[in-house]
Amino acid sequence: MTWRAEVLTLFPEMFPGPLGQSLAGRALADGVWSLRTHDIRAHGLGRHRAVDDTPFGGGAGMVMRPDVLDAALSAVMASVPQGTPVVYPTPRGRLLRQADVRRYAGGTGVVVLCGRYEGIDERLLEARAIEQVSIGDYVLSGGEPAAMVMLDACVRLLPGVMGSALSGEEESFSDGLLEYPLYTRPETWEGRSVPDILLSGHHAAIARWRHAASEMATRQRRPDLWAVHAGRAGRAGDDLP
Ligand code: ADE
Repeated sequence: MTWRAEVLTLFPEMFPGPLGQSLAGRALADGVWSLRTHDIRAHGLGRHRAVDDTPFGGGAGMVMRPDVLDAALSAVMASVPQGTPVVYPTPRGRLLRQADVRRYAGGTGVVVLCGRYEGIDERLLEARAIEQVSIGDYVLSGGEPAAMVMLDACVRLLPGVMGSALSGEEESFSDGLLEYPLYTRPETWEGRSVPDILLSGHHAAIARWRHAASEMATRQRRPDLWAVHAGRAGRAGDDLP
């Protein structure tokens, strides 16, 4: 069955953008997933199709109206399978992790509500089951690039999308560690040699070396991930983060 991405946005022309290229683009062309955009402006009010207004309490910028967004969202929800998650990308959300991506990819699809301006009215988020998700601790000008990041991460996990099934299992985060470093030809470049062990043909030793390298990178660069990994040492079977 085709995995469905439904994107509500004021800028439908931004899509598919990078999602139309490479791995995701090929999967889109092959019908592994579908991408539909819905112009929020179509539900705007009055002659100017207004979708936003000034914030109560004062302050800079504009806030997207809950009634307008709800009309746009209801129209989309009527056409997707029950239980399809609705995701609102926002720097105020909880951090998107690979476990979330696996959950989304394992379902029938996602509805993504892209906000612009300062944000959207809080009451809509309270009244509807909307997951607020951040892709990192920095602020984008809108939800669209974040939606693309999320969708890219989901699509590559869909059955048949990745060339080698193994590459999905071995990569960063599948075991809560960063990926080990990679090398290819030439064997020596600018006086730097590929680690001997990788040329040895000794598969078990290579696997041990890579695991140690993963642990070292994680400890040095991501103490937050390392703390989780170390804390669950010996607990097999789960797959944080
Ligand atoms: N919209 C603006 N900034 C964002 C972020 N960091 N993550 C998700 N959505 C956003």
